[in-house]
Amino acid sequence: MELKVFESPEEVARAAAQHFVELCRDAVARNNGFAVALSGGSTPKLLYALLADPKEPFRDQIAWKKTFFLFTDERNVPPDHPDSNYRMAHEAMFAHAPRTTVARISGEKPADQAAEEYEHFLGDMFEETPDLDLIFLGLGEDGHTASLFPHSPALKETERLVVAPWVEKLNAYRITLTLPVLNNANSVVFLVTGTSKAAVLREVNSPNKNPDLYPAQAISPTNGAVSWLVDKAAARLCSHNNSSNTGADNDLLNKNP
Ligand code: 6PG
Repeated sequence: MELKVFESPEEVARAAAQHFVELCRDAVARNNGFAVALSGGSTPKLLYALLADPKEPFRDQIAWKKTFFLFTDERNVPPDHPDSNYRMAHEAMFAHAPRTTVARISGEKPADQAAEEYEHFLGDMFEETPDLDLIFLGLGEDGHTASLFPHSPALKETERLVVAPWVEKLNAYRITLTLPVLNNANSVVFLVTGTSKAAVLREVNSPNKNPDLYPAQAISPTNGAVSWLVDKAAARLCSHNNSSNTGADNDLLNKNP
């Protein structure tokens, strides 16, 4: 697991935006379309704002009309709720971006119904298990990613594409893509910033794998690449032999598996 360590959250977001643009260009050239799944939380906000910002170089390089935005997970709340991942992405990006296609998870519905509907939607869009071009993931302080939490039965799911696990610690349902989808992506990019993530990043990054305890360790795309874009604060407890201070060098992000 190689970490690409950047000075700041802004540089992480910039590197992620460049990766998005390059993968979008390649996918549109290859398939005339680009399917990307967005994570929620706070870390990706900077990235989403960069992509739509007319003062930044990324917006005009993106084929917005040929890009299809999905979500890795959603809270069981309506789209205008402060906790909604869709609302965060809409406010940071979609509200300022050119017309594009966004498939949000219906968080306002009962979670199992929302999961079933999203799964049917994915089934209609992809013949087989969805092979998304790009997935952005975050890392929770407990090692969760998407809404796959430690010890969750969702981690054992091998058939369903979308499930609605009860998350005891949150006293709430979540709706989340499952590992069959996350591990079928062409490129998975983790965005991890801030000192609060240093301890969990060290655990996730350790050679001792325990994906039931640290679900982010279960992310290992069959035919895709995983990139970890982190800032110095998050990487401060990680051994330096597995991090490369690549700065803004994004060529490494596109290395094939
Ligand atoms: C969510 C996310 C979740 C997130 C992590 C990290 O719905 O919250 O999809 O997996 O990526 O919790 O969140 P932060 O970026 O806010 O630290």
